Amino acid sequence: MILITGGAGFIGSHMCVALAEAGHRFLILDNFSNSARDVVGRIGALVGRAPLVAEGDVRDEALLDRLLAEHPVEAAIHFAGLKAVGESVREPLRYYRENIDGALALVAALGRAGVRRLVFSSSATVYAPTPAMPLDETAPLRATNPYGWTKLMIEQMLHDVARSDPAWSIACLRYFNPVGAHESGTLGEEPQGVPNNLAPYVAQVAAGQRPRLQVFGGDYPTPDGTGVRDYIHVMDLAEGHIAALRHLAGHAGVHTFNLGTGRGTSVLDLVRSFEAASGRPVPYDIVPRREGDVGECWADPARARDVLGWTARRGIAQMCADAWRWQQHRATLPS
Ligand code: NAD
Ligand code: UFG
Repeated sequence: MILITGGAGFIGSHMCVALAEAGHRFLILDNFSNSARDVVGRIGALVGRAPLVAEGDVRDEALLDRLLAEHPVEAAIHFAGLKAVGESVREPLRYYRENIDGALALVAALGRAGVRRLVFSSSATVYAPTPAMPLDETAPLRATNPYGWTKLMIEQMLHDVARSDPAWSIACLRYFNPVGAHESGTLGEEPQGVPNNLAPYVAQVAAGQRPRLQVFGGDYPTPDGTGVRDYIHVMDLAEGHIAALRHLAGHAGVHTFNLGTGRGTSVLDLVRSFEAASGRPVPYDIVPRREGDVGECWADPARARDVLGWTARRGIAQMCADAWRWQQHRATLPS
């Protein structure tokens, strides 16, 4: 059984489906601070059985000890945490406290229970800003905001833990830009309030919920002047975790992988793909750059391909089609 912290969230909910497809049982631990309780029923409908769920905080060590005593957990995937870059700049202590304490509590409880296999959700935000693309795992590291620092600090902590006890096998997976939704359209991203990220914002403009997209910057040194990112379908991302879990079963130590496609897509490319997938216009204005943004960020995913045997399979058209299906389905759900 796999313990999946934050299993009700955007990536975690898709991970549950991928785990079930790969024949794993799973236990969700989530405090529903950034997810809806009804997602559990939708995961259950896709996997054909009601998921095991513990409602609580990953920082609650007594709860973790109880769960690990009651269930035959072989490995954990740690998604739970806070993830909004701008909010982390405004509320740094909350980010350090929640993200670092959550990881510390989980690793300590796993260690006590004798479970030494862990997959950690890291981010491409740990790479120092550079115009040199693509980024491989050896690129220089430096965060530019408190959220990113929590990811880097947790990676460092995991290296130190594995050095202290060679029985640990840990994967740090650095995600590029996860987008899309489950192809059924019944799971997807559910941002609270105004979306910070491009893909859910575009989806809401296409649906008529927001009038226009603001494109942050049209003067980057990129082919059309707008920012270029490595968008990865959330189901490809989830399948990357399955490959990482398999690898950890036979390899001790810390293993770091980029999970990206290796392809860059501009803001305007994504807008056009979304218009094609939805059949709806996405009006936009080009406005000044957003502070802290880089012009380009895309992965060299060769290490995950060579070592894990994993490659992202789904392209931008499918990411947009699945996100649009979810956008329409979401409108039918009780709010
Ligand atoms: P999400 O907010 O949708 O999911 C996180 C889940 O964790 C939510 O269900 C939330 O309720 C839960 N949670 C938060 N704090 C908790 C706590 N203290 N105890 C228990 N549950 C808690 O986020 P996501 O997009 O699915 O991201 C998952 C992980 O991937 C995060 O660690 C995030 O930093 C990382 N990541 C995400 C992206 C992205 O663009 N989505 C990119 C890189 C890395
Ligand atoms: N953008 C717009 N308008 C918007 C939102 C975004 O033009 O309303 C642009 C951005 O300027 C950027 C691109 O769309 O060029 C993507 O922006 P996102 O906010 O969707 O994603 P980021 O690359 O800025 O950051 C995301 C996550 C971070 C994570 C990073 C790398 O939000 O947490 O990917 O994984 F660290």
